[in-house]
Amino acid sequence: MPMRVALGVGGGIAAYKAAELVRALTSGGAAVQVVMTDSAQRFITPLTFAALTGRKVITSLFSSAGDEDTLSSSIEHIRVAQEHDILVVAPATADLMAQFSHGLARDFLTTLYLAFTGPVVLAPAMNTNMWLHPATQDNCKVLESRGHIIVSPGDGPLACGMVGPGRMAEPMQIAEVVLSHNASKKDLDGETLLLTAGPTREALDPVRFISNHSSGKMGYALAAAAARRGARVILVSGPVKLPPPDGVQIVQVESAAQMRAAVLQHLDASTIIIKSAAVADYHLENPPKQKVKKTAARLSLDLTPTPDILAELGRKKGGRLLIGFAAETSNMVAEARRKMETKNCDMVVGNLVNQAGLGFDSDENEVTLVMRTGETVQLPRASKRAIAESILDHLLKLRLALYASS
Ligand code: CTP
Repeated sequence: MPMRVALGVGGGIAAYKAAELVRALTSGGAAVQVVMTDSAQRFITPLTFAALTGRKVITSLFSSAGDEDTLSSSIEHIRVAQEHDILVVAPATADLMAQFSHGLARDFLTTLYLAFTGPVVLAPAMNTNMWLHPATQDNCKVLESRGHIIVSPGDGPLACGMVGPGRMAEPMQIAEVVLSHNASKKDLDGETLLLTAGPTREALDPVRFISNHSSGKMGYALAAAAARRGARVILVSGPVKLPPPDGVQIVQVESAAQMRAAVLQHLDASTIIIKSAAVADYHLENPPKQKVKKTAARLSLDLTPTPDILAELGRKKGGRLLIGFAAETSNMVAEARRKMETKNCDMVVGNLVNQAGLGFDSDENEVTLVMRTGETVQLPRASKRAIAESILDHLLKLRLALYASS
């Protein structure tokens, strides 16, 4: 059965790009039902979408099932909610995001949003100041906390004459996020993913430790996506403030040594290993059992390297697919490639962690995948949830390519 997409089109200049999005979705095999707000119909006609989808476009809460049949038209939003796998809103205007965030149900699209229980993808498009306004940013956070995927707007010249963030993401990029989120896709069925996430903590004494800024969000997004796609997931997690994803077996650890032990314990069961944890590189061997007192004028730490878990897995991986991460502040692709070679990985996910709004602790990421086949793929800036889906798509493709060439 094709993926059934309900596409809400909001009122903004970018509404014309929704026509391209429909084409990208239908050519990807999806069946699309378009729902337009009143203001969207001022920018583009329902006829365009009807021609592209071969279906009547829903344009208002009460007329779509016929004016006489008030009862059936008044429950049409429930039927549309039940019959679609995913709800996509592109362009998502500031007003629509505010209505979604607050649960207002004023027209067909906002009512459909409330009745819909499946995954939601939003592609915001608006003036830069409207996008950056704390009200919109707060709404965005609320919507993301509900698990919705926000395909972030790009930077560039806008119809209003301003230059900055606010331009709707390209239709192909939105289509890729939607199609890769096919809820019925169980392409990891039968796989066991061993994942690590978060930072490690290396004790200095009973009250102090060395750690880093990793939030674990990327690794947790990968774990959630893999579980949704049918994998058994064992998530070895350093200390983070995230709820465990549904259907995932969690093993909590603190130090690099504990992470190593947990990973080796579950190695045999795994078919794919993803090491997204930011493991501390150094630790204090035999930290004092008592709190260190402030007596000396200077204090030096004599640290020794922690075990390189990824390098050890590279030696022990057998036929498993091994994916590492490289968080860098410069030379990202070259460093990712070096780590792939020295640690015998099949793929390294490289990301720059010194860019505003990206990397550690942010909800978004922009990564480059460096692969054993020699291929390098740059994934555009997107939510960590969308990046997680793309990483899983690419690792499955990579495995096929590696089998074919062996
Ligand atoms: N890693 C690991 N064990 C360590 C250090 C790193 O398993 N003791 C893994 C990380 O989980 C990640 C990859 O190695 O998948 C790269 O980590 P990173 O800290 O970027 O690389 P390092 O090898 O520590 O190299 P450098 O500090 O020189 O950048």
